[in-house]
Formats: sequence, C-alpha cells, structure tokens
Amino acid sequence: MSSRWVFFDLDGTLTRSEEGIWNCARYAAQRMGFPQPDGETLKQWIGPPLIWSFRNLLGMTEKQAVRAQEIYRERYTAVGKFENQVYPGVRGMLRALRAGGVHLGVVTGKPEGPTRDILEHFGLMKFVERISCATDARAEKDHLIRSVLPEDAEEAWMVGDRRFDMEGGVQAGVRTIGAAWGYGTEEELRDAGAQYIARDAWAVAEIVCPGARRPEGAFLSMEGLDGSGKSTQMEMLTRNLERFGFEVEHSREPGGTPIGEKIRELLLSRENGEMTDVTEALLYAAARAQHVRERIRPAVAAGRVLLCDRFLDSSVAYQGGGRQLGVDRVLALNAEAVEDTLPMVTIYLDLDHRTSLARRSAASELDRLEAEKEEFHARVEQGYHELISRNPDRYVVVDARKDREEIAREISEKVLERLLAAEEAG
Ligand code: TYD
Repeated sequence: MSSRWVFFDLDGTLTRSEEGIWNCARYAAQRMGFPQPDGETLKQWIGPPLIWSFRNLLGMTEKQAVRAQEIYRERYTAVGKFENQVYPGVRGMLRALRAGGVHLGVVTGKPEGPTRDILEHFGLMKFVERISCATDARAEKDHLIRSVLPEDAEEAWMVGDRRFDMEGGVQAGVRTIGAAWGYGTEEELRDAGAQYIARDAWAVAEIVCPGARRPEGAFLSMEGLDGSGKSTQMEMLTRNLERFGFEVEHSREPGGTPIGEKIRELLLSRENGEMTDVTEALLYAAARAQHVRERIRPAVAAGRVLLCDRFLDSSVAYQGGGRQLGVDRVLALNAEAVEDTLPMVTIYLDLDHRTSLARRSAASELDRLEAEKEEFHARVEQGYHELISRNPDRYVVVDARKDREEIAREISEKVLERLLAAEEAG
C-alpha cells in the first residue's frame, strides 16, 4: 500500500496567529503600565523570543520582561491561542489530500499543548494523524520531521512558510513546498531550498495530488421577518466562519444575479400595486431558478460556503402564508426552480410580527411587501413556524430579541457543528 505523507507547519501555514500574539502583547504592556505598542512594533513581534521583544521593543528591564512574559502567557493560554484564523482554502486542501489517501501531520515549533488545542478548536485534528512539536530540548525542524516520518513512507513532503521549514525538510530528505501565503517571502523560501512554491492553499493539493477535486462547499440560508436583523447576523456569521477557514460568499433573494436583481426591482417597487399573487410567486421562483444555476451551485462546487439572505422558505412564508396561496402550491411552483438544491442549514431569526412591525416602521422607506397590513405579516410568521415544524433538522432557530453578540454566538456554534460534521462525512 502506498504511504504518502505531507507535514505542515502550523503558524503561518495552517493558521494565521498574529491577532492573538498582538492582543497578548498589548495586554501585557498595559498591565505593566507601558505605552501600547504601535503597528510597526507589533510586526517585529512575531518570531523573536518574548523576553527579547519586551526588552528591546518596549524598553523593559530584564525583571519587568520576565513578569510581562508571565502575563502574556496567562492570556495566551486562556484566549490568545484561539484568536487565530485558519487560512482560506486550508480546509478544502486538507480534505482533498485525505480523500486522495495522503497521510497528514503537523510539525511545529510550538509546544504540544497549544498545538493540540488549536487543532481541536478549529476542527482540524480529524485530518491529522501525527504531530511533532518542539520541546525545550529539541526544536530543530529536521529533527522534528525525522521523529514523525514513518520508515516505510514512500513519499514525504514538508509544507511551511519560513526558511526553517524548508531547510528542515531538505535536511530530513523530504520534498519541500513553500507556503507563500504565510510570513516568509517567496525569495526566502526558494533560497532555503523550496522545490515548489504554493501561492494559495489549494496549490498544495494540486502539487501533491495532481488533478485533485475540490471538495464541495455548502449552501446556507438566513430567514426571518423584515427587521429581524438578518444583515447584521450574516456579517457576524461570516466573520466567525472565516476564522475557521471557510470561504464565504454572500447572496440574496430576490436577486443575486443581474437577471434576479431586475426581477427584484419589479417585485419590490410600490408602483406595481396591481401585481397578482400568482405573478408575484412566479417572479420570485423565476429569480430563484437563475440564482440556483448561476450562483449557488457554482459556489458550492468550487468549495465555498454560499450564505443567502432568504431562499425558498421566504416564498413559502410570504406567498404561501402571507398571500394565502398555500404551502404546497408554492412548493410545487418552485420545484422546477430549485430541483434538489436546498440549504444544508437554514437560520431563522425568530421575531414576532408586532416587534418586526415596530422595527420596520422605525427604519427607512418600506417596500411593497413591507408595506402590507399586520394580518399579512402575522400569516408570514405562521408560515415560518409551519416550515420549521416540517423541517426541524434543517433549521437553526434563534430568538431575535436577544443581544446580537449572543445571537451570533448561538448561530455560529450550531452552523459550525454542521459544517464540521459534513467535512467528516466525506
Ligand atoms: P429582503 O431583501 O429581505 O428585504 P429587507 O432586507 O428590506 O427586509 O426581502 C425583500 C422582500 O421580499 C421581503 O419583504 C420578503 C419578500 N420575499 C418574498 O415575499 N418571497 C420570497 O420568495 C423572497 C425571497 C422574498
């Protein structure tokens, strides 16, 4: 059986760690009563030993630097290590390599505790079979690589963003790929013996497994009555997913394509008061048919997470419930538009129609649907509740009256759970 191994450096290759490092440096400076380090100073922070930085970059005495290091480490252990971001495309690349039968490992200058915590926290541990971390006694990369390289490995690679990774790989006799998205320059990587340069994470999959196929992304939708806070929550969810390395794309319905946006104008313009209910439902479905084919399916096929502000469920709630066309009729009318394309998860921001009305009236001009009477919105709300009871597994329901940070936390937790589970499934 072929045994191919790829080893990755952690900081600067799988994850970008500067945010946590900088926050801890600022915190330690503040607690020690020193002025906040500026951007230029912080840039020099990544790399040298902490004591050196506190002394030379902030002007502390040896004794102060030792105390500052303690404060720094306390914060780093508690929160700093998670103020990290998985680089875009890393998840898809790791999945594709695993699917190609390649074994994966992590070789890092970080101690084992935080390395495991970070890999666990970001759901990367499931891809990794071996970990080799620096100890106080041995930190050289070639030694770290040799200590995890199986004797029967037929092919092995080291992927890293600094010269130490490339030099270590060369000395350990493995192939080398320079990760140009990290902290080192292409020149540094080549000079240190990089055989290949990967400009983004996916390029690693193409070098190791030529012709590798990108794993599918996911389609998510956000639903709720007008004024339920969808836009804010879309932004907050996106930031949280991006921290995990998911590549997120936004879209909306009606709209999301040039044709869809034209249909949106027709639908929402208050000049079109004579529009019949069936025309309205068909126009939403027509915009959706275009959107599914032009945007949603291509994004998912390219490995991205497409997060859509409203989808089919809006039609069921607004046209099926609000306009009283009925749930089944609206679903039938949309069957051709969506075929089998349905969201993996739908987030529902639960807000009763009266609060929604109060929030809407406080906002700017109302569109044709928003301007509808209270009974209409009460039926829309009911429509959503019927949908949720029909599809409990697809829905994540959150109370939209809670504090927005709390809502965002709840949503991210549940959505991430689903996305990470889907990665494991295949
Ligand atoms: P939206 O863009 O959410 O407007 P806003 O952000 O101003 O609330 O949606 C536009 C309107 O279209 C909204 O009132 C809901 C309605 N709508 C339907 O009636 N059916 C549908 O299928 C969709 C997608 C939206």
